[in-house]
Amino acid sequence: MFHPDGPTFFELCQQALTGTTEGYDLLAPKFDRTPFRTPDVLLDVVTEQVGGPESADAVMDLCCGTGAGLLHLRQVARERAVGLDLSQGMLDEAARRLEAAPGAAPIELVQGDALEHPFDEEFDLVSCFGAFGHILEEDEGRFCRAVAKALKPGGRFVFMTTGDPNDLNWKVWIARGFNLVMRLRNAVMDPPFIMYYLTFRLAAARRHLAQAGFEVEVREDVFPMPYTPIVLVVATKR
Ligand SMILES: C[S@@+](CC[C@H](N)C(=O)[O-])C[C@H]1O[C@@H](n2cnc3c(N)ncnc32)[C@H](O)[C@@H]1O
Repeated sequence: MFHPDGPTFFELCQQALTGTTEGYDLLAPKFDRTPFRTPDVLLDVVTEQVGGPESADAVMDLCCGTGAGLLHLRQVARERAVGLDLSQGMLDEAARRLEAAPGAAPIELVQGDALEHPFDEEFDLVSCFGAFGHILEEDEGRFCRAVAKALKPGGRFVFMTTGDPNDLNWKVWIARGFNLVMRLRNAVMDPPFIMYYLTFRLAAARRHLAQAGFEVEVREDVFPMPYTPIVLVVATKR
């Protein structure tokens, strides 16, 4: 699952004992050699599904990490490609990795919180990949309102998720066990490391997005094997 040059189990534990931002600062140099980076094969599909090259003026990838999303979505933007992340370490890696990204739109990398970003109706497309576990369930409504604030009217929010967890799948119980450990860790240690599995699944995402003023379209069967359980959500700001 992990690349031989990826983080050791000990390093991951050390990172989890710091806060979310500090943890990602530490992980940043090795992040692309973990399974946490969104695979390019999925991002290729997203790029095509949102309209392909130069189909939007301005694009923002929230929780952009080392730039996986922008590596693909920069070419979708005609004028502006923004990546926002809490961790300056991840943004520094993104700056290096995006130097040769296809597309001509200027890239802006902004350190900040997706829940409290400074952008007002500036983007045609906002994306977020592999990061919903870092948004507390009680903040999901606030997160959707923050996305709506960043989008122009008619702008689209794109992301991937899956349906409700299947209780018969052992991996779901491992994920619940992990969540329990993180809850205990966060109850006794500050700053918290916010990372929980099984969050922002389709039903919850639909509900929060509708409340934040989005029309929600779910595209099934767009991803190749073994990613077929994943759906692409395209939510349009009314
Ligand atoms: C698992 S990584 C995913 C990175 C990238 N989107 C990808 O798919 O490869 C999650 C990223 O979310 C960032 N993050 C976590 N909470 C955040 C928040 N509230 N606002 C902005 N970024 C956040 C972390 O710093 C980290 O870079």
